[in-house]
Amino acid sequence: RTHPFYDQPHPAGISTPPQRHALFMTFDLVDRATRSDLQVLLARWSAAIAQLAKGRTIGAVQPARAGAVGADTGEAAGLDPAGLTVTVGLGSSIFDKRFGLEHRRPALLEELPDLPSDQIQPSLSGGDLSVQACADDPQVAYHAVRNLARMVRGTAETGWTVMGFGRASAGPGQETPRNLMGFKDGTRNISTPDDYDHFVWVTDDGWMSGGTYQVVRKIQMNLEIWDADDIADQQNIFGRTKSAGAPLTGHREMDTPDFHATGKDGKPAIPGTAHIALAAHENNGGTKILRRAYNYTDGINKYGQLDAGLLMIIYANDPDHFVKIQRRLGASDRLNEYIQHIGSGLWAIPPAPRSGHFIAEDLFI
Ligand code: HEM
Repeated sequence: RTHPFYDQPHPAGISTPPQRHALFMTFDLVDRATRSDLQVLLARWSAAIAQLAKGRTIGAVQPARAGAVGADTGEAAGLDPAGLTVTVGLGSSIFDKRFGLEHRRPALLEELPDLPSDQIQPSLSGGDLSVQACADDPQVAYHAVRNLARMVRGTAETGWTVMGFGRASAGPGQETPRNLMGFKDGTRNISTPDDYDHFVWVTDDGWMSGGTYQVVRKIQMNLEIWDADDIADQQNIFGRTKSAGAPLTGHREMDTPDFHATGKDGKPAIPGTAHIALAAHENNGGTKILRRAYNYTDGINKYGQLDAGLLMIIYANDPDHFVKIQRRLGASDRLNEYIQHIGSGLWAIPPAPRSGHFIAEDLFI
């Protein structure tokens, strides 16, 4: 269960079938960091990620000299590589004068606009760098991010983080998992090579070609209120049945939804305000996005309620695809009564490095 890091047509952790767990963390470069500090950071991270993906430590856990500090923190020693992938993103703030990169900015990398229903907390917003570590063992994912953070101390500081337990998205051949609202999530997701080429991978943008854009949303759920809602209403909110995950116009999960069908009362069988009616490509001008979502929990909030939701990671070759769908959802999705988008950011994901090179090396040429 290993995924190679170097020499891949596209970066690992995007079309890789979702592993069971994810740890997402952002980083901000310190004010005094220079262009060469950024290059060294990306070079050190690349070398470390290549080792970690093979299930190796990134240096001595128990150095021979008693007075020496371990190069690796040690908690993943002896564990399986657990399919670890680490995906690094570059935020818009990297492409400013400070690093002399203002002319290398990816064509579509800007800050996300304010969107309807947004309740983004400033402390959960943006960041110079993003790190998404996915693995079938949460300790392996945690170890990877912890050690990446440790090795750049002094150059970059941690920003915000979300620990995703339990995938809420499916890749080809995987059974569809469920989100914390109890519904199957990831049924109609991008899966064919054609759709990846058309909607996910960037082409014809110089050093970015082969990469993509990453939109991250931390979405809090009001679980106590959701749990009190009756099943008919829950199903109308998503436009699907709870157990089978079938569209309200079908019987099986993979049946194609019929957004024109009407029920006995003459009303649309899948309400126009249902989540899938608003998000589906049939109704949004043909746009598809890749969803790589994970359930998260932050424990219990100050009111004694469950503090949990969805870590939604979206990949698209144009961030506006997300914006377009989210404008539709934010304006009329009935799901909005039960969720709040509280964290947000957009990053450019460089292509996979060639062996002997580092992430985004071509950016500095
Ligand atoms: C479909 C849940 C947020 C885009 C679905 C489905 C569920 C679901 C249960 C149906 C099964 C499937 O096809 O995967 C949720 C929950 C959310 C959330 C619980 C928030 C907590 C979002 C956001 C976006 C989005 C923020 C994008 C802006 C989509 C799309 C589909 C979908 C494109 C497929 C629609 C189709 O083609 O039928 N979601 N979702 N979702 N969702 Fe969400």
